[in-house]
Amino acid sequence: MLQVLRDHIIEDMTTILEEWGCAAATTTDPIEINEYTDAGKGLLATPIAFQLASELGRPPADIAADLADAFRDRGPIEGIDTIETAGGYINFHIDETFTTQTLERILDEGSEYGVVEGTGTSALFEFSSPNIAKPLHIGHLRNTVLGDVLGNVLAARGYDLVRDNHIGDWGVQFGHLLYEFEQAEDTERFEAEPIDYLLELYQRYGRHETELEESGREADVEQLRDTGREYFAALESGDAELRALWERFSDASRSRFDATYDRLGVDFDTWHGESFYVTESWTSQIRETAIDNGIAIETDDGAYVVPIYDDDLTNVEDPEQADVRTDADIDLDEDDGDYEAFVITKRDGTTTYGTRDLATIAYRVEQGYDELLYVVGSEQREYFQQLFAAARKLGYTDIQFTHVDYGLIDLPEGSMSTRAGRLITAEDVLDRVRENARSVVEENDLTLDEETADEIADGVALGTVRFENIAKRRTKNTTFDTEQATSLEGDTGPYVQYAATRAWNILHEADTDVSEPSAVADQPFNEFDHQLAVRLARYPLVLERCEERYDPAPLAQYLLDLARTFNKFYHENRVLDAEQSRERRLVLVAATVEMFETAFEITGIPMLKRM
Ligand code: ARG
Repeated sequence: MLQVLRDHIIEDMTTILEEWGCAAATTTDPIEINEYTDAGKGLLATPIAFQLASELGRPPADIAADLADAFRDRGPIEGIDTIETAGGYINFHIDETFTTQTLERILDEGSEYGVVEGTGTSALFEFSSPNIAKPLHIGHLRNTVLGDVLGNVLAARGYDLVRDNHIGDWGVQFGHLLYEFEQAEDTERFEAEPIDYLLELYQRYGRHETELEESGREADVEQLRDTGREYFAALESGDAELRALWERFSDASRSRFDATYDRLGVDFDTWHGESFYVTESWTSQIRETAIDNGIAIETDDGAYVVPIYDDDLTNVEDPEQADVRTDADIDLDEDDGDYEAFVITKRDGTTTYGTRDLATIAYRVEQGYDELLYVVGSEQREYFQQLFAAARKLGYTDIQFTHVDYGLIDLPEGSMSTRAGRLITAEDVLDRVRENARSVVEENDLTLDEETADEIADGVALGTVRFENIAKRRTKNTTFDTEQATSLEGDTGPYVQYAATRAWNILHEADTDVSEPSAVADQPFNEFDHQLAVRLARYPLVLERCEERYDPAPLAQYLLDLARTFNKFYHENRVLDAEQSRERRLVLVAATVEMFETAFEITGIPMLKRM
């Protein structure tokens, strides 16, 4: 595979640089080899000459030329045809044998292509994690799709993952909610539309609070908040009635969540909500450890906090000092030794979000994971830095913590809805996309009957939602333009699906044996065939990149590139009626179909036989 080729080149490069006595050969930085796929550059290209320019005091192009010579002097590399330079770049072109082997592999291995054997990394992979008593919103939609696809990528890269939905089902907000619920006592309404009703109660509490604040009734505001706190304290200390009510909230939420996850085709291994760690006493254990060992200090009003100093956080930037992988800048106040208080017990003795997260870590560490991955929005970045710092203080230093953060997502008219206090639910977005998909399908093929059109529309809708939520670099904010995202033209899921459908149909129309790529290896390929073959060879490196970045975006971009290249190949070449390379081209089409299927399995985009 291409990785093997790349690693071979890197090894040779290291040897050459050692012979030259270059420092670059001995640094820990990997020598960079990128796969470029445009016609002008090689399949594997290295910018190393640019990095060496200052050390050697020579222009990159000269260094590249000498390096290329040194490579040629070492004799042929299996799989590499020619070595050329382009400016300071050295390009390695793959040969026909390698291409044929790649096609063979893809056809033989199917969905195993690009999959690596277990690396032994066992990880708890937390994603989605919505809060009960509310519907999933558009942010959870991004989280859920991004998390699901990244989970699949990591599994393909050999991780042993447990997917956990860390439900937000505990906290003082449920004290407020329970209070409002008892006040209103509209059981009928709750039975009929539990989540909408609970959401209303939430909003009612918020309005109530704002009204009191705005009319300057400070004491009443405090009183209202105290009541909520009391309810929560009672719930946490095991009040049976409140617990029973809370369970009804929780169950109603679970069925509503399930319905949305079903539509998205997402599954979890475990659903440990925050409440689990309270009920199972992990929170009390954490509190004891922190207090008994003097890691938490008591504040004037009787709360306990773990002080987090700037130094505790700045260690995070240095992977040698802390097992935290982060590409985020740390921008907390560089104050004079002041600390941020990570609260683990409030003055009334109740737990916080942070207590429950520390307890969750204690539990997960005991389960023996190597790594804990948290797919959670960027707005909680500072919180997670503090959480991980607090966890290290508690002695959890052997486990790697990773906050896989992602940017905000909105509809084009999103900010307006937020101002109006309207929640954009995941269901709304899914409905909207489904509706658009239905008209796109209908317009595309007027001969479809209702049932078939519906079925295809479901597939297109899912393709749209999944593609759109992973297409942008995860840390970027994005706008989900449901109209545009469903279009068959443009950088969209349906565009990719359509290319795959076309490839599938060509293959099936051909009715030709494609199982022996080597038997037709002497049929010539032109540049369009080669361009497509190169894409197929790239795939394992794309997965590798996704893992490095904890981001499925490169895979989405890869799919677009594959779709475009396939369309170009089909536009420029004769395939079914080709005069001389028909069989080999069909092998290429078969491998492309296989490739789409493999990548679709990971991204959860449906493969449609008709569109
Ligand atoms: N429930 C939270 C929310 O919807 C996200 C939970 C993130 N995970 C965690 N371990 N804190 O914002």
